[in-house]
Amino acid sequence: MISIKNEKEIELITHAGYLVSLTHQYLKKFIKEGITTKQLDKLAHDFIIEHDAIPSCLGYESYPASICTSVNDEIVHGIPGDYSLKNGDIITIDMVIGYKGYQADAAWTYAVGQINEKKQQLLKYTEEALYEGLKQVKPGNRIGDISNAIENYAHDHQLSVVEELGGHGIGQEMHEDPWIPNFGKKHVGPRLKPGMVICIEPMLNYGKKDIYQMPDGWTIKTVDQQPSAHFEHTVLVTDQGYKILTPRLDKNEN
Ligand code: MF3
Ligand code: CO
Repeated sequence: MISIKNEKEIELITHAGYLVSLTHQYLKKFIKEGITTKQLDKLAHDFIIEHDAIPSCLGYESYPASICTSVNDEIVHGIPGDYSLKNGDIITIDMVIGYKGYQADAAWTYAVGQINEKKQQLLKYTEEALYEGLKQVKPGNRIGDISNAIENYAHDHQLSVVEELGGHGIGQEMHEDPWIPNFGKKHVGPRLKPGMVICIEPMLNYGKKDIYQMPDGWTIKTVDQQPSAHFEHTVLVTDQGYKILTPRLDKNEN
């Protein structure tokens, strides 16, 4: 069942989303050669707590950190640790923040120093794929319209689509209905209605689509060791279209 959020719920998710945006903006200035992913996690944890909010990943199904840090060929759910960032890396920071019982979720892939052209293309087209998906968010459209737009955009730019992971509804729970694959046919799936809150999150690979999970039980990587990128927004379906609840403050979004 896809829930329709009331005004109060939307207000709380909007605030959670704003805190996600603020935390991303805060972390961005620390994403430089030499910092460890564990240090980034600690910065995020303390920043979130100081804002009277909850780092919802911490303890979720026993996940041991407040954010996910996925470097280069890591796609999602990388666990922060002793790895120190190197010039030329890409790192995805993915986080869910809870505020008064409501969640918001956003992931961005960042460049560390100067990245090569291949990684630049990967980041550019993965981010654009998210916005292609967002263009389909309006009442009456179906989930498949989002999926199909993302898949077409990825394939037009020679990127492959991770099939095992995708977007989702969000609210009191981090993951609610519907499931939003980043591939599929248009005109199929549930219809969007005002008041739904969903996360759209293309995960695109430079090489092949195949993935595997590390023995740590979390980190998901590309089999061919090529880099992967991930861009995610939490959005509210409105009467006209959508509103981004996790705006990029570094790009003056919203
Ligand atoms: N945005 C990630 C997801 O939707 C957050 C995962 S938190 C974790 O899967 F605890 F599961 F890692
Ligand atoms: Co998500």
